[in-house]
Amino acid sequence: MAPSTTKQWSVTGTEKGFDGLELIDAAIPKVGDNDVLIKLHAASLNYRDLIIPKGQYPFPANFPIVPASDGAGEVVEVGAKVSRWKKGDKVVTLFNQGHQYGPVNFSVMGTGLGGALDGALRQYGVFNENGLVRAPANLSHVEASTLSCAALTSWNALYGLKPLKPGETVLVQGTGGVSIFALQFAKAAGAKVIATTSSKEKEETLKKLGADHVINYKEDPNWGETAKKLTTNGAGVDHVIEVGGANTLEQSLVAIKFEGVISIIGFLGGGKVQSSILECLTHICTTRGVYVGSKALMEDMVAAIEANDIHPVVDKEVFDFEKTKEAYEYMWQQKHFGKLVIKIE
Ligand SMILES: NC(=O)c1ccc[n+]([C@@H]2O[C@H](COP(=O)([O-])OP(=O)(O)OC[C@H]3O[C@@H](n4cnc5c(N)ncnc54)[C@H](OP(=O)(O)O)[C@@H]3O)[C@@H](O)[C@H]2O)c1
Repeated sequence: MAPSTTKQWSVTGTEKGFDGLELIDAAIPKVGDNDVLIKLHAASLNYRDLIIPKGQYPFPANFPIVPASDGAGEVVEVGAKVSRWKKGDKVVTLFNQGHQYGPVNFSVMGTGLGGALDGALRQYGVFNENGLVRAPANLSHVEASTLSCAALTSWNALYGLKPLKPGETVLVQGTGGVSIFALQFAKAAGAKVIATTSSKEKEETLKKLGADHVINYKEDPNWGETAKKLTTNGAGVDHVIEVGGANTLEQSLVAIKFEGVISIIGFLGGGKVQSSILECLTHICTTRGVYVGSKALMEDMVAAIEANDIHPVVDKEVFDFEKTKEAYEYMWQQKHFGKLVIKIE
């Protein structure tokens, strides 16, 4: 029989930072006709999860909220009218529960897990059947729990507007979740990858993951120019996965090829950029804001993960559910490489 209560983390507000995270017992809501009850086995963290309790997230959040958009688990109960799932199916959460297919729209923005709606850091959760995606068959729960946000965002950057072609070049910045997924997807597509990092140790790991060139962005502040020189005829890169914001966009504009796409994804280096939008004209490129992605895109991504047997890069530290606050702190200090996962018993 399905349980009636669940342990769950709750973000109570923005006043206390990570101390605003509390582990509580809560009642499991009734499973509606179109709902499924999931036993969550793992959740992974994104930068967004860290800045929500710190009050730095630029979109509205509802408090108290169960944090984390990314989770993986198993169906334990289905509502009377559910047709997509049966007991025992392995699933992952869809970031924006309302984003089923096509372009993002305003109403979808209010359906993000871990911000607007309760997320994955709980033992059990009730979700609408359309808010879940089949987990890739080649992945463990720990691996599958990394796909909802960073992976889908990278996939959307590479395939959502101007699909990446074999032989093209992708520039990825730093070694966070988004960038490492972009590296893996680009290599699986037969593209070349130029990666940047601030860390000597991480240079080797990036090469092992298939990066064709690695540039240390601390040692080489003109890394955009260096990246451009590494491309065929010095023409520039076809795609930039732009996660830095301030200090990186200038270099991304230097690195981009005519008609290339800079996907504006994050602002790890700050939000106040010096570049002018007019530089898209002087560099004849597209800059595109990317906001995660739809279920349709996520299903394409799952198929590609299975076909290419891609395994997400999970940090060596996998945290226990009770140690969630330590996981937040570890990630805040940028000690992680790839995705940081929390196991849920
Ligand atoms: N728009 C969307 O839908 C969406 C979705 C997911 C994430 N995001 C955003 O994308 C960004 C990256 O997310 P993530 O989850 O990949 O983050 P993450 O895992 O926390 O990435 C951390 C890594 O980024 C690199 N980094 C930090 N500051 C940098 C800078 N100034 N320039 C270049 N690299 C830098 C560092 O790599 P090294 O240690 O190798 O230097 C660091 O280890 C965040 O701003 C996040 O909010 C947006």
